[in-house]
Amino acid sequence: MELKIIEAKNKKAKPAGALGFGKYFTDHMFVMEYGDGEWRNARIQPYEPFSLDPSTAVFHYAQAIFEGTKAYKNKEGEIRLFRPRENFLRLNNSADRVCIPPVDVDFVLDALSKLVLMEKDWIPSDEGTALYIRPSIIATDSALGVHAAHNYIFFIILSPVGAYYAHGLEPVGLYVEQEYVRASKGGTGHHKVAGNYAASLKAGEKAIQMGYDQVMWLDSKEHKYVEEVGSMNIFFVLGGKVVTPMLGGSILPGITRKSVIELLKSEGMEVEERLVPIKEVIDGIKDGTCTEIFGTGTAAVISPVGKVGYEGKDYIVGGGKMGEISRFTYDRVTGIQTGKIEDKFGWVTRIDR
Ligand code: COI
Repeated sequence: MELKIIEAKNKKAKPAGALGFGKYFTDHMFVMEYGDGEWRNARIQPYEPFSLDPSTAVFHYAQAIFEGTKAYKNKEGEIRLFRPRENFLRLNNSADRVCIPPVDVDFVLDALSKLVLMEKDWIPSDEGTALYIRPSIIATDSALGVHAAHNYIFFIILSPVGAYYAHGLEPVGLYVEQEYVRASKGGTGHHKVAGNYAASLKAGEKAIQMGYDQVMWLDSKEHKYVEEVGSMNIFFVLGGKVVTPMLGGSILPGITRKSVIELLKSEGMEVEERLVPIKEVIDGIKDGTCTEIFGTGTAAVISPVGKVGYEGKDYIVGGGKMGEISRFTYDRVTGIQTGKIEDKFGWVTRIDR
């Protein structure tokens, strides 16, 4: 398929000051449409609103999926993408779960590189910043029948971002939710389906009102095992070992999660993927054997956890400070992403040469 490029006539002013997360968008976007059984009309075009009929399927039945990845620019001007192929492979897995046709991974990877290079002046280079990349697919049939749509839009938008949490690398507080659940086996929790996030909002708002940053979700059946956190996977340092909930069909297979496991194992650390009872975590915080907790995600990167709220009580982890393993992991992952540290894993693709 040919990739058309339509340059924006008017360029926006770049944001000055703190970027926050997902507030600013660049001048161009990638778009292609699906209809008559094929993806077509691929183009990089000016960033602009879509015009969609009120009956459009995505508005009613949430047939929508998305991804999140980042481009990094260092002070030398080198531009890198972090494991973008993994994102498009996961996008196709999500697509399959909600009856969306798959995309050609090589084609969209190439289109993404071209788009990011066109927008290279938008990539911030300060510590902790990046160009967040949001690929999405939405169903665009205009009809109210409940069935898989025949028409879709795939688009990629770009947003210069700072830290996901307003307080940067300051440890976050998590609220262990015992009423609502995020996902159950056989559902869509394992995939990046837009509706998962709508279903998480009620508990997320409750956690914020109670003074926490995000929700720590438990399994839907027994409310006993930790699954993941609002927008991150979760790791514990328990009894000297790194432990993370195993992927059992209701947890998102995070690319940062997978990278952290590979990284820590390559450093000779033991990493266990298993069921993690919330009781084990709370007992571990109480007796000092749970020394660190950190979240992993594209947006949040590595996010230390300082406080866990469970059954009406707050438990402070590691003195409420970022622990040694969390710091090491953050430094290594961000070092590889920005080119400060050699990438012996082959995770980064440099696209500026
Ligand atoms: C990401 O880390 O890229 C995510 O998708 C989390 C988010 C919904 C902000």
